[in-house]
Amino acid sequence: MMQGLEGVVAARTRLSHVDGEAGRLTLAGYAAEELAPHAGFEEVAYLFLHGRLPEPAERTAFARELTGRRTLPRAAIEVLREAAAVNAPPMDALRMAVPILSLGRAENPLDDAIAAIAAFPAVVGAYWRFRHGESPVPIRCDLPHAAHYLHQLSGAEPSPERSRALETYLNTICDHGLNASTFAARVIISTQSDVLSAITGAVGALKGPLHGGAPGPALQMVVEIGSPERAETVIRAKLDRGERLMGFGHRIYKVRDPRADILAQAAEQFFSSGVDRRFYDLARSVEATALRLLRARKPDRRLDTNVEFYTALLLHGLGLPPELFTPTFAVGRVLGWSAHCLEQLREGRLIRPQSTYIGPMELHYDRAPVRFDRSDSTGVCVSRRS
Ligand code: COA
Repeated sequence: MMQGLEGVVAARTRLSHVDGEAGRLTLAGYAAEELAPHAGFEEVAYLFLHGRLPEPAERTAFARELTGRRTLPRAAIEVLREAAAVNAPPMDALRMAVPILSLGRAENPLDDAIAAIAAFPAVVGAYWRFRHGESPVPIRCDLPHAAHYLHQLSGAEPSPERSRALETYLNTICDHGLNASTFAARVIISTQSDVLSAITGAVGALKGPLHGGAPGPALQMVVEIGSPERAETVIRAKLDRGERLMGFGHRIYKVRDPRADILAQAAEQFFSSGVDRRFYDLARSVEATALRLLRARKPDRRLDTNVEFYTALLLHGLGLPPELFTPTFAVGRVLGWSAHCLEQLREGRLIRPQSTYIGPMELHYDRAPVRFDRSDSTGVCVSRRS
């Protein structure tokens, strides 16, 4: 039995293929490096939900459908306000708001998927603004999805370069085989539950630091190094202490993570568009030093740059703080979750693996029956917040 299901194939999918030996990622038939930097998010979303790229009229109709669903239900806004009032982490706020999107609507898989994809930018944006004592900005329906997300966060219309950089990011990370959150979504929907329940579970899975949490520490390492001359000393010291370098190494990719290349190019383009390049140059020199030292330490293992390193660089360049890195990942990955749910409903079977029991056997319960009585109770029911 393989702990953690490593190497176990648990689904058939047409959505994405991760070739870890060759370092290739295929998104619904297209090489990720060809699709992600050029396609609009709306086109990629259509491709994932419908299995082919849209014709121009279909693209327009689909984009309208998404923009028409950007506004959040009042109850979701209230939950986000309450979550911000108690400083809930952004991923918790997202996990609380998603199920409310089903309020007052009849269950429908495709409709629920589109509702979630359309609503995520406003959920994260409204929450973030409440957290900073501001009101959510009115929804703009004339902005494409990526630009709309940046607008929801800052209240300002982003430049085309900023929108393109974020759009490339969202496209690049929208799906990646049977990662933990996608698997969680597929398990939930495989019981013929509903898409919004599955997406809520996926948000919970993504929250964990082993899944969506590496770009923050990767950014922290670059910030800590501060200048190229310090890279060697700081990285050596980390490796001497047995620390792992965040943003390097991957369970599946035995060569360079292709998403790192796509985001490296997007970052290069973005940082060449008139913004301060110093951080970009610093990160590139940190990367080069890290790779050189990792190769010297582990000559028999190929430890290369992964997607998180360039995610950190790109999102930081876009002005997003580390707290928003995982929710921004969710804004893109909700597309993969949704498409996997539709595929699982169409073609899948109940996912119900088995476990190996390693506990004791043949214990005997020989106690006298116990009743719940006054000593089991506090005597008063207390509400946590009035
Ligand atoms: N820095 C330093 N050493 C690393 C390393 C890193 N980023 N990643 C792996 N190694 C070393 C391990 O210490 C181990 O050395 P050992 O054999 O002497 O004990 C060896 O490489 C293999 O490690 P293992 O955990 O088996 O590799 P893995 O392929 O299962 O792990 C990760 C994959 C992603 C968990 C791992 O590379 C890692 O922790 N990376 C940093 C976190 C990160 O960037 N995560 C985002 C991934 S997209």
